[in-house]
Amino acid sequence: MSGPSRIRLGVNVDHVATVRNARGGRHPDPLRAALAAIAAGADGITAHLREDRRHIVDEDIRRLKAEITKPLNFEMAATPEMLAIALATKPHAACLVPEKRTERTTEGGLDVVAQKATLGPAIEALRKASIRVSLFIAADPRQIETAASLGAPVIEIHTGAWCEAIMQGNRAEAQTEWRRIDDGARLAKSLGLEVHAGHGLDYATAEQIAALPEIVELNIGHFLIGEAIFEGLPETIRRMRAAMERGRAKVLAR
Ligand code: PXP
Repeated sequence: MSGPSRIRLGVNVDHVATVRNARGGRHPDPLRAALAAIAAGADGITAHLREDRRHIVDEDIRRLKAEITKPLNFEMAATPEMLAIALATKPHAACLVPEKRTERTTEGGLDVVAQKATLGPAIEALRKASIRVSLFIAADPRQIETAASLGAPVIEIHTGAWCEAIMQGNRAEAQTEWRRIDDGARLAKSLGLEVHAGHGLDYATAEQIAALPEIVELNIGHFLIGEAIFEGLPETIRRMRAAMERGRAKVLAR
């Protein structure tokens, strides 16, 4: 499949670094994982440099930027430190995320309504450096409208609550979250935003969300790296791409 209907897969390699850091040293190497993911069909690589450097470290970002042949999506909190690193590294894209030291993963979306004053200048600085800015937000109309007003060209819809509701077997909650994502993706597209999605996705949820024509990119990490233990990373990426293409085919068949 090619052309505008193709949905891109961004592979997040943070948890390759999590395993490496459990022992210190260099193995397994997130750059090697990134290159293997690209060879198997990933369209881009995402890495989150957290303030506490719990997984990806500065040297990983430098090596990824220098070595990978597909776009690097640099996930970052909108802090002066991360902004300076982004401007020095010049990744293809920067995805602004909220960050709390005590959280295990990025728990919710950015509150762009409350943080308008700090996010505006960060978005502007990144845009001036030709870095494509994406805002990681919940599929909430107020957040989406504010994201559009801030001049970010892209949003990434947080799919964590939907995936969690499915995992818990909470069908009513899953339905509500799904409707929110579907409506949010349409609203964002109508406001001229490019729409991505991510967090907690697996084969089944990626297939379902790929059937939303407004969504052009999925960013997936934890499931892929976990599944790679059993299937190997290249096979896992191929299966994920196949799941996404099955979902996308439903759009084309409509
Ligand atoms: N997108 C963003 C903005 C994220 O913060 C994360 C988690 O780091 C992901 C996507 C990937 O989530 P997961 O690791 O659950 O697939």
